[in-house]
Amino acid sequence: MDRDPPIHITEGKDVDSVKLEDIKQVAVIGAGTMGSQIAQLFSQVGRYSVAVYDLNDELLTQGVGSIIENLRRYFVDKGSMTPGEMDNIVGRIKGTTNVVEAVEKADFVVEAV
Ligand SMILES: NC(=O)c1ccc[n+]([C@@H]2O[C@H](COP(=O)([O-])OP(=O)(O)OC[C@H]3O[C@@H](n4cnc5c(N)ncnc54)[C@H](O)[C@@H]3O)[C@@H](O)[C@H]2O)c1
Repeated sequence: MDRDPPIHITEGKDVDSVKLEDIKQVAVIGAGTMGSQIAQLFSQVGRYSVAVYDLNDELLTQGVGSIIENLRRYFVDKGSMTPGEMDNIVGRIKGTTNVVEAVEKADFVVEAV
C-alpha cells in the first residue's frame, strides 16, 4: 500500500516566538465545512497564500466551490466585492491531495478534519 512519506519537522518553534509578519504561507488540513471557511478567511482577510489538503480531488473541488459560492453570494452579488477581487482571493487558495506539498512551505498549519 502506498503511504505518504513521513514529514520531518525540523524547526519547531515556541508559539510565542512566531511573529505574525513572518507568516506568509498557510496550510489547512481538510476542505470541509470548517476548512473551506478557514481557508477563505486566511486568503480574504489575511491575504495569505493557502494550501488546502484533503483526501481526493472531488472533496477539494467541493471545498473550493463552496468558497466561490460564499464569496459570490455574500460579497459580489451585494456589490461589496468585484469579481476580480473574488478571483484574487480564490487564486491564493491551492488545493492538493499531497500532504507534504501542503505543509512543507507552510509557516502555520490548521487542522480541520
Ligand atoms: N462544522 C462545525 O460547525 C464545527 C464546529 C466546531 C468544530 N468542528 C470540528 O471541526 C472539524 C471539521 O468539521 P467540518 O464540519 O469541517 O467537517 P467536514 O466533514 O465538513 O469536513 C472534514 C473534512 O476533512 C477531511 N478529512 C478527513 N480525514 C482527513 C485526513 N486524514 N486528511 C485530510 N483530510 C481529511 C474530509 O474528507 C472532509 O472533507 C471536526 O473535528 C469538527 O468536530 C466543526
